[in-house]
Amino acid sequence: MAKIGITETVLRDAHQSLIATRMRTDEFEGILEKMDKIGYHSLECWGGATFDSCLRFLDEDPWDRLRLIRKKCPNTKLQMLFRGQNMLGYRHYSDELVDYFVKKSIDNGIDILRIFDALNDVRNLQTAIDAAKKYGGHVQAAISYTTGPVFDIDYYCNYAKQLENAGADSICIKDMAGLLRPYDAYNLVKALKAEINVPIDLHTHFTSGMGDMTYLKAVEAGADMIDTALSPFSESTSQPCTEALVATLEGTPYDTGINLAELNALADYFKDVRKNLIHDFNLNANIPIDPKVLTFQIPGGMLSNLLNQMKEMGVADKYPQLLEEMPRVRAELGYPPLVTPTSQIVGSMSVLNVALGRYKMIPREVKDLILGKYGRTPGPIDPEVKRLAIGDAPQIDHRPADDIPPQMKKLREKLAEEGFPNAPIEDVLSYASFPEVTLNFLRHSNIGMKFHDL
Ligand code: CO
Repeated sequence: MAKIGITETVLRDAHQSLIATRMRTDEFEGILEKMDKIGYHSLECWGGATFDSCLRFLDEDPWDRLRLIRKKCPNTKLQMLFRGQNMLGYRHYSDELVDYFVKKSIDNGIDILRIFDALNDVRNLQTAIDAAKKYGGHVQAAISYTTGPVFDIDYYCNYAKQLENAGADSICIKDMAGLLRPYDAYNLVKALKAEINVPIDLHTHFTSGMGDMTYLKAVEAGADMIDTALSPFSESTSQPCTEALVATLEGTPYDTGINLAELNALADYFKDVRKNLIHDFNLNANIPIDPKVLTFQIPGGMLSNLLNQMKEMGVADKYPQLLEEMPRVRAELGYPPLVTPTSQIVGSMSVLNVALGRYKMIPREVKDLILGKYGRTPGPIDPEVKRLAIGDAPQIDHRPADDIPPQMKKLREKLAEEGFPNAPIEDVLSYASFPEVTLNFLRHSNIGMKFHDL
């Protein structure tokens, strides 16, 4: 009987972290049946950035991808990453749309929904959690893990308790930047296991070089599942390596029940996939680990995006200042964990501060964050920054989505105007998330026409 469950991330987070989410369905289709036989706890294979990437870069319908994986993997639980009230987009949507999105994800094959909120505001998860339970999905509610003065064990236990009370079937500690140190993981998991009755999953990244050790300590403390990636798509900014963790735990009370030799065949397959993708997209083949993330709390991939932004603005020489500015802005904005969409919000504000002077130009998203339109920040907003950004405007203290009316009818009308009057609900949900990109895709693929003709 396997003691530790392995969630394999090669089809979602691993390629999102290492190769900008560019893995096409036809590249992994041929190995799915073998993956289905491994005995993974789950396959993380959908959601996160894969949805956007399918439509925007790969000319693929993400819903088709999900249905295909479901067909080829009837025995393994399929898992997705869902941004709570943001669905798979970058802003809040109506409860009605969130309910539909969750329903359609489950209808098309998802078993486990890992649901998180960038601000750890449980109100932003409730609609998605309720929907997942209503439609028979497993709710894995995730804690966005970060470090800072507000974030101690009590903070995380308190939030985990809220998630459990909200209906979570399991809890994930989501350490998106690899900040969780091995002994902190041990203490955190121990504390959670004492407080929480549902299984605990740990999700980390190898970014700082500690991921393997963090998993080992978490497993010793009682973690039930860990997230790993097959070797060709593991380490650096991705997850620790599946084969290494399976071997580490083999023959111990924490055995995963997975056969190492069978994993090797999968690894060989994905080695070629990685080689082809790096060639096709001219991608950086070697992303080194970056322990500096522990000092600046900025994931490596994000730094390279911000450096590009600075180059475009002609202020690349101010990059060293950015490294100091980001933690400062994050503190002033109430210590949001840096994950989509707060990572982009804090990042852009920091670039503008360094380029133009502090808070000389304040983007809409920063004002909205201060106004409470993303939910409650973990810490208070700096009063001076608040004054500069929103003056005397009142902050909202209710759930942001309470202000969003149902959107489905309008979206359908708009799609009809664009020539897709009978689009299936999946297409409407794609359109709600990424309007322009989805329209381009529908026109191009004629999927809309197919239904139009019926
Ligand atoms: Co991740």
